[in-house]
Amino acid sequence: MADIDSQKREKEQYVDLGHTELENHLKTQVALYEKKTQYTGNTTNLLSAFFWYNLFGFAYHYIRSRLGPKAEYQFYPRNGDDGLYPTHTFTDSVTLALLSDWATDTKESDQIGHLVSTYDPDYTIHLGDVYFVGTPEEVEANFLAPHSSWHYGKHGSLALSGNHEMYSNGTAYFKKLLPAMKIRKGETVATQQAGFFCLEHEHWRIIGLDTGYTSTNRPFLEVLFKPDCHLREEQLDWLKNVVRLGDPSDTRGIILLSHHPYYSSFRDDHPVVGRQLRKIMGDSARPVVWIWGHEHRLSFYEKYGFPDGIQAWGRCVGIGGMPVEINEPNRGHESQLVLYDQRVRERVRRKAVGYNGFALMTIEGTQLKLDYIDQNKQTVVSEQWSVNRENGELAVKTLFVHPDMTKYGQ
Ligand SMILES: [Fe+2]
Repeated sequence: MADIDSQKREKEQYVDLGHTELENHLKTQVALYEKKTQYTGNTTNLLSAFFWYNLFGFAYHYIRSRLGPKAEYQFYPRNGDDGLYPTHTFTDSVTLALLSDWATDTKESDQIGHLVSTYDPDYTIHLGDVYFVGTPEEVEANFLAPHSSWHYGKHGSLALSGNHEMYSNGTAYFKKLLPAMKIRKGETVATQQAGFFCLEHEHWRIIGLDTGYTSTNRPFLEVLFKPDCHLREEQLDWLKNVVRLGDPSDTRGIILLSHHPYYSSFRDDHPVVGRQLRKIMGDSARPVVWIWGHEHRLSFYEKYGFPDGIQAWGRCVGIGGMPVEINEPNRGHESQLVLYDQRVRERVRRKAVGYNGFALMTIEGTQLKLDYIDQNKQTVVSEQWSVNRENGELAVKTLFVHPDMTKYGQ
């Protein structure tokens, strides 16, 4: 029997991974084919496996997902849950591990999953993208199987949706991954019911936004009208009426989590999300910290917001499992870009890749520390946020920057 490591996907499969659905469906079939070949030992089986998985399997999978309906959108209230989860009060500090683009079922993602477990965080949150296309088998391999390496936080785990979950129409995300996401809710245990949520602390609110569901569109329409990752009406209603994001008397600090970046110096902006939030929060909207993934890099921005959008300090942490990209910025917002990680970990197929890792959040009263930790357990950036409860304003102090991090413009 093949050992577990040999069943893992090789990182080579992810190098130069395209961002289209077609490419990712194809790669899922290639992965199935390669896995199949490890259980069989003769060329006849190799050949049949290739034809079956790569041609018939791919065509079936692709056509089904492209032409079939998207999974029904889930929103609160649902099964008696409202998506608000008070953080535990067992200790004075609350810790959360944030992993994005982690679910690749590789040795690298295993390494990060095991690393997270050594910190024994209270909560673990996946910021989205189950590779290649979020099938039930891929959810199983990363989160549910006995050998899967997702570390469930001791008070709970939650998962946002990325675009890759929607490449298979989101069914496995809603029907298989969310039912596995359990979180303490006072004396009870809740199961995640929708692709968005709010963790409530006495001094902070950590709000997970669903930008994945609207990141894909129907075939052909997608070419004409690029999906903008907007927040659907049901989510906006929840933010307005349940989270009460526009309540000026609530001066808790706000940390947003989403799969897609609000803005970027490397790839697409998603300004509509910040504009929708501004409509809810009003003209006196306070700046927030916004942590996202989608891009497989570690990067840090100064406070920025689009006209009519909220202001946010952006942090990209899409380094959970994919080969980490280290290319130069070239898409604007360079004046906001402060730091990014271009350290070379190794070369895969002659392409240089960076370090995988995750972010560890530690909340103690009005202080919130963010440590960005690489696969060698090296903290590369550490920052301390504080919230002024008089007015809800945030302030940041940088505690540590690894000397090999790239400072923009230097
Ligand atoms: Fe993504």
